Amino acid sequence: MDRLKGKVALISGGARGQGAAEARLFAAEGAKVVIGDVLDDQCRKTADDINANAKAKSVIPLHLDVTRAADWRAAVERCQREFGGLDILVNNAGIANIKGIEETSEEEWDSVVNINQKGVWLGMKYAVPAMRLRGAGSIINISSIYGLVGSFGSAAYHGTKGAVRLLSKAAAIQYAPDKIRVNSIHLESYLPRCSTSLRQKNCSRSSMPLRSKEAPSPKR
Ligand SMILES: NC(=O)c1ccc[n+]([C@@H]2O[C@H](COP(=O)([O-])OP(=O)(O)OC[C@H]3O[C@@H](n4cnc5c(N)ncnc54)[C@H](O)[C@@H]3O)[C@@H](O)[C@H]2O)c1
Repeated sequence: MDRLKGKVALISGGARGQGAAEARLFAAEGAKVVIGDVLDDQCRKTADDINANAKAKSVIPLHLDVTRAADWRAAVERCQREFGGLDILVNNAGIANIKGIEETSEEEWDSVVNINQKGVWLGMKYAVPAMRLRGAGSIINISSIYGLVGSFGSAAYHGTKGAVRLLSKAAAIQYAPDKIRVNSIHLESYLPRCSTSLRQKNCSRSSMPLRSKEAPSPKR
């Protein structure tokens, strides 16, 4: 308890799923939290639920579309106005697209790239100046196991989650002198929402790394 006392966190995609769980955990550890999402009603409900179980109001919901610079600017300003600054950014918002390279439309590609990749860059771009004012910070970019290994589907998802990994490494080097840590997290599939969509698409092979036993071996 209280490991995050005095800290202010901004979590994108905090209305439900993992983002909501992160907000609940951060609040329980003493942080003040702003959760942003495009699902406004769900975001408000999640904040109300967490606040109802806390001693003081610790979570504020707001509208945040991670693809829009103006929304990020407003979200960071809200952290500063309501809670005095920003110490932690969790770039959690993300969407999946379980399609291979040829099956993915240009519109789908752009949508996944805009949310999963551009959204992470924009979040860091606007959070870093606020963290500098605090003298330190921590940025946590939610990638995926799909950002580390290939599979038989999810082309755009792989591309963006892999990009988040190297973007995080580059940012970690760039902002080390500012005492701002940047890490990416690479989760396995764990929630019913994701597993259900994989089952519906009959894509169980898509979780198989390219060099697993069943994958064709590369010709030498
Ligand atoms: N669920 C898994 O098994 C799994 C595995 C690996 C990685 N991840 C990653 O974890 C993160 C959270 O996933 P989840 O399973 O909780 O999914 P989820 O769909 O439950 O939650 C994602 C949230 O992001 C929000 N979002 C979507 N587009 C947005 C936008 N433009 N602006 C702001 N918010 C937006 C959604 O409204 C939703 O609330 C994602 O980045 C995902 O890629 C999940």
